[in-house]
Amino acid sequence: MAWPCHFLNREAPQRRIIRTSESESGLRGGWDMKVAIFGASGATGILLTHRCLDAGYAVTALLRSPDRFPLRERVRVVVGSALESMAVRQTVEGADVVLSALGARSWHNEYVLERAVPLIVTAMRQTGVSRIIALGSAGALDDSLKLQPAWRRWFAQKIVYNTFLKWPIASQRAQWLTLSASGLDWTMVMPPMLTNGPARHRVRVDGQALPRRGMRISRADVADFMMQQIGNPRWIGAGVYIAW
Ligand SMILES: NC(=O)c1ccc[n+]([C@@H]2O[C@H](COP(=O)([O-])OP(=O)(O)OC[C@H]3O[C@@H](n4cnc5c(N)ncnc54)[C@H](OP(=O)(O)O)[C@@H]3O)[C@@H](O)[C@H]2O)c1
Repeated sequence: MAWPCHFLNREAPQRRIIRTSESESGLRGGWDMKVAIFGASGATGILLTHRCLDAGYAVTALLRSPDRFPLRERVRVVVGSALESMAVRQTVEGADVVLSALGARSWHNEYVLERAVPLIVTAMRQTGVSRIIALGSAGALDDSLKLQPAWRRWFAQKIVYNTFLKWPIASQRAQWLTLSASGLDWTMVMPPMLTNGPARHRVRVDGQALPRRGMRISRADVADFMMQQIGNPRWIGAGVYIAW
């Protein structure tokens, strides 16, 4: 399924509050939608998988440990790693849309996004799948924090991004570079700190930078927002920041 490419994040104004319980555009993916999910077993990925199944979509999930995945009976499972090109290709083949909530399981330099995202892009090109919605991070770009108070920007960029978030941020920057050069219909959803709390169904969205004082958002709201993007061309070819 191909969507036209819109670079809407370069237009102003881009700041708004939306309800994540509703589709932003009114468009929806069809009931026969086939979705490939990377990172389905992760904290955000399992929420995404539940939502896709609830929407009636056919889900293919790439899993390293399918026995531990509670929804394994309800999805088509490809067993393998996102670092294996054949497994990645089997996962995306036949999909209408790819969702990724991949990430390293630790704060160390595992290079998961650095190595997996290029394989996903290549597999999508080879199999004619054009749409990908990937979970990124609000720290991925230098401009990300330009709406934040100066002390917060300094603290994040000088301290946090150089210490315990060094490798996750490096991975997210790599993901950004790969997706933005991919030529695919990509969207990178860029939240601040994720929580496991319930959805508030009301999030701030900005195409230019993390909304001011946007410190957190729940994985539930992120999953809802990513689901909305399946039927929404607005953020194709763009990063989009979301926060409470
Ligand atoms: N934590 C935060 O506050 C925060 C904030 C902003 C953005 N983010 C980003 O959000 C993303 C998701 O975070 P999360 O906390 O929801 O995820 P998570 O619980 O850490 O899950 C990561 C997922 O990636 C999978 N994965 C890792 N390496 C893999 C590989 N080689 N092959 C296949 N699958 C692999 C894991 O599979 P297994 O089950 O097999 O390990 C798991 O499903 C990350 O990219 C993170 O950087 C996080």
